[in-house]
Amino acid sequence: MCGIVGYTGQRQAAPILLDGLSKLEYRGYDSAGLAVRNRDGEIEIVKAKGRLAVLSEKTDGGRTLQGCCGIGHTRWATHGEPSENNAHPHCSDDGNVVGVHNGIIENYQELREKLQRNGYRFYSGTDTEVAVKLIDYYYKKYLGTPVDAINHAMVRIRGSYALAIMFKEYPGEVFAARKESPMILGVADGECYLASDVPAILKYTRNVYYIGNMEIGRLKDGKVTFYNLDGDEIEKELVEILWDAEAAEKAGYEHFMMKEIHEQPRAITDTLNSVLQDGALNLDGVGLTDEELKDISHICIVACGSAYHVGAVAQYVIEDLAKLPVRVELASEFRYRSLLLDPKELVVIISQSGETADSLAALREAKKRGASTLAVVNVVGSSIAREADHVFYTMAGPEIAVATTKAYSAQLIAVYCLAAQLGKVRGTITEEYYQELVREMTLLPEKVNKVLEEKGRLQWFAAKQANAKDVFFIGRGVDYAVSLEGSLKLKEISYIHSEAYAAGELKHGTISLIEDGTLVISVVTQSALFEKIVSNMVECKSRGAQLFGLTSYGNYSIEDTADFVTYVPKTDEHFAASLAVVPLQLLAYYVSLARGLDVDKPRNLAKSVTVE
Ligand code: G6P
Repeated sequence: MCGIVGYTGQRQAAPILLDGLSKLEYRGYDSAGLAVRNRDGEIEIVKAKGRLAVLSEKTDGGRTLQGCCGIGHTRWATHGEPSENNAHPHCSDDGNVVGVHNGIIENYQELREKLQRNGYRFYSGTDTEVAVKLIDYYYKKYLGTPVDAINHAMVRIRGSYALAIMFKEYPGEVFAARKESPMILGVADGECYLASDVPAILKYTRNVYYIGNMEIGRLKDGKVTFYNLDGDEIEKELVEILWDAEAAEKAGYEHFMMKEIHEQPRAITDTLNSVLQDGALNLDGVGLTDEELKDISHICIVACGSAYHVGAVAQYVIEDLAKLPVRVELASEFRYRSLLLDPKELVVIISQSGETADSLAALREAKKRGASTLAVVNVVGSSIAREADHVFYTMAGPEIAVATTKAYSAQLIAVYCLAAQLGKVRGTITEEYYQELVREMTLLPEKVNKVLEEKGRLQWFAAKQANAKDVFFIGRGVDYAVSLEGSLKLKEISYIHSEAYAAGELKHGTISLIEDGTLVISVVTQSALFEKIVSNMVECKSRGAQLFGLTSYGNYSIEDTADFVTYVPKTDEHFAASLAVVPLQLLAYYVSLARGLDVDKPRNLAKSVTVE
């Protein structure tokens, strides 16, 4: 939530900051702002309510702001409603300290009162203004350096933050401080960059530092110096980012979401290849040897949003292939529950960003309770990846659209690999079946491409649903798990109310919501459950529902019941979610498009939820 950027070098800062923010808009987009130090040493601040485009227009693409050092912010409101006044950057009363912030200052009321007692006045409802003024307070109190001032503030602040700060008396310098919220610092030929996420600076440099918790960075003359809380200098390793800069661009697609839907075959292939060796899976690189896998007694999968839906699929697949008890928990619940963990339980945290606050807290809780932890994460070097005992990196590349698609697919293939390997080492599947599963996984990308060829039909169907009021998704087993994801995709980007139900639950209340013409989407890929779900479809139809059937080629009898049918290629049924999800993603995309909505940036949402 919220994206921050910073730049200091020889070029004009504002266009670089705006460009960086455009790559971070997925993190929040209710207001934005820039602070640039002009030639006279004055720091000029411009803010605008609404999308980044409004700020860009207001500053003529950054041209009205002159200066080579600056910071910027795109906001997802937590404290204080979205408004120009609450937009960042915020500054101290005399303009001595200016800052942008991502995170939440939990004790901001208490700090605000302390500052008020010391003569500070507040113009916004944000916690950020409090942080900026607290730094100003310590700067003046101890007549110290910016590092001292920030250190003192960090000790007093409770909560999470990635802060970028400029001090009036330190021209050409940007200071950074971090606790929990993500931030990277980049360097290139006399220039320094700072951002919440890699895509914002990928165009300018691939050489980055990951700043740790409770650390400070000083960006000056193309060099970053790091300090710990005592103000002592510390060494950091420069890391090269291997992502392709093109990956963060739309590449001719109208929206990132459509581009990312089409990148799924590659995301699946790359993730699978990362653990495939001579036709067999090898999780040694993940840090899980066959011996360790054999020793696991239970699995607890913890995640949020779509990553939780991957967990729901994994539960069916792992239980069936590896005969291990698996439970799936929402991270926000797990972290506050005294869940009993078996000493040999593996806790698997699934997260695209690796920064989701609840998932990170759940990981820490699991570690505290002595569990072994595995992170399935997309963003290299993210907090969850760094703190988990083992990491299985999904190879989806940067995902920009708020509604996840390719990261979900990459997570699915990662959990299939885990399931198949567990099945093999525990002897719950035969070697032949294991080989067949691995082969089926390698065929999934081609099959996803086949589903993508059907998009014209789905667009036609979606256009007719633009005015739908309620949509229901039903399925059983893996089909129920994928229904959860299909329903989330639809509601988050089309704003049409939708719900996913285990088809057998329908009769326990929900069926009363079915009216003439209500769309019911049935996912039917599990042959053992085919007849059961067709009966549920008939029950809906006799109450007036319009039925969309999503099934595998060969199940043609579904046409006797459904009004509209989409087929996906056959695969091993454990892996059916990887194919069934694609028409559901396309449907959501086209419904959103037909309703004239902003597909990539749905209202009220942010891609990376770094606050509770
Ligand atoms: C947000 C995103 C979802 C994502 C969820 C968990 O709600 O919009 O797409 O599934 O966070 O994020 P994570 O980065 O942990 O996978």
